[in-house]
Order: sequence, then C-alpha cells, then structure tokens
Amino acid sequence: NTVYLSDYTPFGFIVDSVALEFDLDPRHTRVKSRIAFRPNPDATDRRFFLHGENLRLISARIDGHDVTCTLTEEGLTCDVPDAPFIWEAEVEIAPIENTALEGLYMSNGMYCTQCEAEGFRKITYYPDRPDVMSVFTVTINGPHPVLLSNGNPVAATEHQAEWHDPWPKPAYLFALVAGDLVAHSDRFTTMNGREVDLNLYVRPGDEDKCAFGMQALKASMKWDEDVYGREYDLDLFNIVAVDDFNMGAMENKGLNIFNSSAVLASPQTSTDMNFERIEAIIAHEYFHNWTGNRITCRDWFQLCLKEGLTVFRDSQFTSDMRSAPVKRIADVIDLRARQFPEDQGPLSHPVRPESFQEINNFYTATVYEKGAEVIRMLKTLVGDEAYDRALALYFDRHDGQACTIEDWLKVFEDTTGRSLAQFKRWYSQAGTPRLKVSESWEDGILTLTFRQDTKPSAASPDPKPQIIPIATGLIGPDGEEVAETRILEMSEATQSFSFEGLARRPVPSILRGFSAPVMLEHDLSDADRTHLLAHDTDPFNRWESARTLARGSLLPMIHDGAGADPAFLDAIRKVVADDTLDPAYRALMLGLPTQSELAALIHAEGGTPMPEKIHAGVEAMRDAMAETFGDAAQRIRDTHLVSAPYDPGAEQAGQRSLANAMLSLITRRDGGAAAQAQFDSADNMTNQLAALAALLHIDRGSEALAAFEAQWKDDRLVMDKWFGLQVTQARPEEAASVAEALTDHPDFTWQTPNRFRAVFGALAMHHAGFHHASGKGYRLLADWLIRLDPKNPQTTARMCSAFQTWKRYDADRQALIAAELDRILSTPKLSRDTTEMLTRIRGAS
Ligand code: ARG
Ligand code: ZN
Repeated sequence: NTVYLSDYTPFGFIVDSVALEFDLDPRHTRVKSRIAFRPNPDATDRRFFLHGENLRLISARIDGHDVTCTLTEEGLTCDVPDAPFIWEAEVEIAPIENTALEGLYMSNGMYCTQCEAEGFRKITYYPDRPDVMSVFTVTINGPHPVLLSNGNPVAATEHQAEWHDPWPKPAYLFALVAGDLVAHSDRFTTMNGREVDLNLYVRPGDEDKCAFGMQALKASMKWDEDVYGREYDLDLFNIVAVDDFNMGAMENKGLNIFNSSAVLASPQTSTDMNFERIEAIIAHEYFHNWTGNRITCRDWFQLCLKEGLTVFRDSQFTSDMRSAPVKRIADVIDLRARQFPEDQGPLSHPVRPESFQEINNFYTATVYEKGAEVIRMLKTLVGDEAYDRALALYFDRHDGQACTIEDWLKVFEDTTGRSLAQFKRWYSQAGTPRLKVSESWEDGILTLTFRQDTKPSAASPDPKPQIIPIATGLIGPDGEEVAETRILEMSEATQSFSFEGLARRPVPSILRGFSAPVMLEHDLSDADRTHLLAHDTDPFNRWESARTLARGSLLPMIHDGAGADPAFLDAIRKVVADDTLDPAYRALMLGLPTQSELAALIHAEGGTPMPEKIHAGVEAMRDAMAETFGDAAQRIRDTHLVSAPYDPGAEQAGQRSLANAMLSLITRRDGGAAAQAQFDSADNMTNQLAALAALLHIDRGSEALAAFEAQWKDDRLVMDKWFGLQVTQARPEEAASVAEALTDHPDFTWQTPNRFRAVFGALAMHHAGFHHASGKGYRLLADWLIRLDPKNPQTTARMCSAFQTWKRYDADRQALIAAELDRILSTPKLSRDTTEMLTRIRGAS
C-alpha cells in the first residue's frame, strides 16, 4: 500500500475542538475523547474514517447515542449525520508494551509520547493527518508528581492536571508526559513583554545537566525574535528529556520532548561536539514553533516545508552563535557523508517525495539537509532582503494553515515577481547534479563553461536542468583577489560566463561557500589548488582545496601503496601552523575525506573500491602527516591547551579540537605517552574521550577503557560513548567481533535506541570493519536487525541504510550482502518500515 502525493483530498470534516481525558496505567490506560466534528464545505468525500491502531475500543457514541463502527487494522468507519456532531469514544491502550516508542509509551517508569508522523492513531481514534487542525483540551489522571501536556495549565489537583492549548494544531504535535521528574526552571521575557516560564524536566539525578540546554533555549528565543521577528505564543515552554527515543527530539506545541542525548549536558560528561549539537537541536525544535507548528504541512509529502526550513534556520543560528565558516564546512561534510550516498543510491528520492509506504522512512538527509540547501540557494538567488520580505509574507499569509511547497514558493514569487517554475525542480527531482567546468582564456577574458548532468534514477528517470547559483570569485597570480564573489546563475544544461578586463590569467574559485548541493568537477592543477589553498578569500573554498588535494593524494596511496605527496603535506602543515587562522578551522584543514566517501569516489570513477586498501591508504596518510608535523605537533598542541575553566563556546572548543587533532598525530609516534597523560588528568569529556580514542587506535587503550567504564558505569549517555568508541577504534578485522562481544555486556540494553545505535551505528560507520571481506559485519548487523524489528520497526528501518551503498563493492561482497538482505526480508512478519527500506535497497540496480 503505497500512498501518492497526487491522491491528496481534504478530509470530509472539520474538527472544532478536541477534549481528551487519560487515566494512566501501564497496562490499562483509558483514553476518553470528545471531538466536535462538522462537515467540511470544501470536501466532496464525506466518508467518516478515523485512524486507529492497536486500540481496544470500549465505547463509541455520536451525540450521546451508542454507534456501531466497522473496525479494521487501520481504523474505523461509521455512519454520521450530515450536520455538526459530537463524537465520544473510550479506548484502552498498554503503554508498557509499546516498545516501538510511537504513540504513548513508557521509559524508565515515565509516560511519554511521540506522535509524529502517524503515532496519534495509537492513542485514540482520530483523523490523524496534518491538515486536520484543532484546539485541544487534555485532562490527565495519574499518581505522578508531574503531569504535562501542550499549551497552558488550566487546573491541577494532586492527581489530576488539565491543559488547554489555544493554538489549533494537527494531532502529530500532541504530547503528554507523566512521571517523577524534576524541573530546571527559568524565565524569558518576549519582545512584547510576555513573561514565559521555561522548564527543562529531567529524571532525578540529571539536574546538573540542564543549565546549558536552558541557556540555548533562551538564546534561541531571542534569536528568532531578532532575526525572524518571531515571538513565542504561550505562557509556558516545557522541554522533557527521555532516555528511550527513536530520533533526536520532537517539537510538540509548548512541550518539546527530547532524546536525553540531545539535551543533557555537562562538561564532565559531554564533548564539545555534544554541546554544539544540543544547542542546535534545542534551537531547531524551538524554531519549529513557527515553522512547523503555527504553519504546518498539508500532508507528509510536504515534510521538507517544515524540516528544510527549520534546519536552514538552525544552521543560521549556529553560524551566528559560533563561526560561520566552520559551521558551513561542518554542514557540507555532513551532507556529503549522509545525503550524497542517499541521493546516489537506491534510496534516492526528491526533497519532496511523491510516494511512500511508510512515512517514517522519509525523515531523511534528503528531506532535511538537502531541503535546507534548497532554501539556502533560494536566498542566494533572491538576495537577503527579498528573502526577509518573502518570509514575512509567509508568516503573515499562512499563519494557522497547513501548507504545501507551492504555497512556500508562491510567497517568493509574489515578493520578487520572479518565476520559480524551474527552481521548483530542486523539490521534485532526485539525484545530485554533477557540475563540470572548463576554462578558456583569451585577450584578458576568462570564460567558464559549465555543464550540468544528473544521473537518471528510479525516482527521476529523465532529469532536467536545474537553476544552479554558482558563487565565483577570481584569485590573481600573486594571491590577490581580482574579482569578488559573483553569483553565476546557471539554468541551461550548458552555459558560459565571462570575466573581462583581466591583466593576467587568474585562478577561479568556484562554488564558493558551497553555493549549491552539487558535485563540482574542475580540472585544476595541483599548483593552482595549492594557490587557492594559500590565498582564497573564501574560507569554504580554501578548505575545499585542501580536501580536493587530499583526495588526489590519497588515491595513488590506496591504489598502489604510493607514498603521500610531500607538496600536499607541506601545504597542509603551513595552513595548520598559521596562527592567524581560527583553530577550529585549522583542525578542519587536517581532516580527510571519510573512507566511505573515498569508496564512492573510486566507484564513480569506474573502479571497485576495496575497503582494506582504502583503510591502509588513509592510515598511511595519517602516519605521513604525523611525520611531517614532527615536533611541531607538540608545539601547536601546547599553544592551544586551554587552562581556563571549561566553557563549551566556540572559542575554547576550537582550541581543543586543534590540540586534540595534534594529540592524535603525536600518539602515532610516542607510543601513547601524551594521550595517557591527558587521559589521566582530563577534567572534561572532550579531552578524556580524545585521549581514549588515540590510545585505542594504537592498541594501548585497554587500561584506560577499564578505568573509563569504572568511572562512568552509572551514566548511560557516557556509556553510549564507551560502547561506540571501542567499535570505532577497532582494527578492521576485529570491528565486528568487538561489536559482537559488546552485545554480551550486561549493560547492552539493546531495546534503547541510543545503546543499539552506539554499537551498530558505530559498526556501520566503520567502513573497513563493516565491509570486511569475511562478511561478519554484514551478518552481525542482519542478526540484530532481525531481532530488533518486531520490537522497534522505526529504528530498525533507519539502520538498514547501512546497506544502501552495497552496489559499489565487488561481486563477493555484493553476494554476501544480498544474502543478508534476503535473509532479513524473508523474516516472518517483518515490519512495513523495514520491508520498504530493504526492498528499495535490494531492488534497484
Ligand atoms: N519533527 C522532528 C524534528 O525534526 C522529528 C520527528 C521525527 N519522528 C519520526 N518518527 N519520524 O525535529
Ligand atoms: Zn525538525
């Protein structure tokens, strides 16, 4: 049962109000609903169908009279009057048995919910679709000290709380939390003087991990006022941390629910990267209040309407709070690591998909991250000022509505008078365009000729040219910028742009800031790239030059065991030693493409990637870097050791990332002395974990590993790191056995998604380990996916993407993988989620 975008029709009824009453009990929770329906004048189909899954229907009444309903696995139908009516139902559910973590479930004795996308139907019968918006009143009865739902509290007695949310919302934004929780509280005064109470609810014992999240929340609220003019709209904003959660977090109106890994932080237990991620996720969920909640999606095909925009907004926020170039580079690294493989493999789909079987399978890097890239391009094309006006119009025109991508593009068309018909292909066409550029030079004129090409895919068999904004500048032979960034707007399959009046031939710096999510192919000599690496004024492209040089140098090392290119090593050493540059940026300069990215590159060039050779090549490059830096590594590290008290802000984090990058080089030459010393004296998780990783990498980490476990055995978030790091740092031939041994550990609580992902996410990311020729990695993951699927289809299905790149590899590996895919697929009662993912992965060529 595939659902199609083209089949959309509005629901036959309007919901004027919803009242819910919960009597909480682990096995026998009763949910009473009282819903006011009236015929929808804009709809032609008046069949009354309510979604409902795994519900025990106790009673159903219309206008006070019992009605007989026809029940199916998916919901119910019954006859209803052709006039407004009141629907009342009572159902029973068993939250303790809900291991899928969708609907109402329990985690460590607390009740919580996850309703996006289609989880509300596991709570009661309802038109569970985002275009049905209504005002909710919720009563919760239970013996718990904290009873929460959306909106504002209206009444509370000892074992009862009543909540009212005045803002109409779709059911996917409903939330309920009940438990023995403690609040970390604060306050925010909005731009118009509204006083908002802020609470971060956590389990007792986690109180010391709340301060940072709260700061991030206040910063987000302020930023959305300053930059987008968006004010918060309730008296209260609550966040709850939950240990068992399928995703990062959820933007339920006034009651955001977070995976505890995405909100709890302390210097001793969280790394700088954790802090940055937490700040971004808090912002993301908060920003959804306007982009998602006040303006929501008409149907789930429009998911990128809220997610692309909200990811774009949170990336702007992080750029403002921290370093814009560092954030941009980090985002592109992430896009290439997660979105490009999706877009170039069997799971390829447009930013706005046109069909699906299970919507949870489309919370993807394409919808989220490429969706954000598309908005970034739109802003580049229309300009900052027009972007601001278009957004103001969007909020004004569509507040309170459930919208489409057409609505979104129309506000840009109406503000700028420009047609976005061709630009819209970014939403409808799958695949990553390749952008080839050639140069010609004559009479002081440099002409750049671009050709765009998108590989046909099952999702887009006949791709058409897209609008590509190509930010380009020119760097002269002496390193001076002879032309500032100009946006070349490409719309044809092939198109030329000229720069005139040039005295000498410059080196073009193309696709500055990664102005479009494409694969650029620019045949520059190493000398020209090194020139850009030294002189480009665009920090992104400067970094990109280093990346491209690294790739070029790595390929011969991988293919024929060549040594590292001394010119490359020297160029890198120079930028990294340049004290005028931001330390975080210098640390990024040292990064290499991931092994998976190298495999994709080799595959794209017509070769067959051999994971063990890629691994050996990268290791040899790291050793060569360690040699090249020599004692300079120690000097750079010393200069950037932080002596001030720990602060998670960008400045100190940058110092630590550079110092720890040096530590990993030093550890390759000193037998682990420096890393052991750092491990023994570290007073923050960033330094402790970096030292442990360095030691494990050279196989000198067993004592530190035991000490780490003894120190942190009671902290589940830190223990996730302990589980994951052992796999990450294992030698390729041992990665699967290490993972397997960890599954026997008494703390391997595999039904908690964070712990499952700690081990198996790390295994899937360990390129040479997962793809080891023995096939043990494939087998182990398949075993555990088969085990997890009946408990938690969503997390199982997400982890299937580990196999999405399988067609890149040699015939032996493909055969091993195919066997595992078929084995999982033949499992009786496999979930719809996992079935859809695996058939897509297995099927396409
Ligand atoms: N809307 C949430 C966010 O991006 C993600 C929730 C996804 N949940 C799911 N079951 N697919 O912040
Ligand atoms: Zn989101």
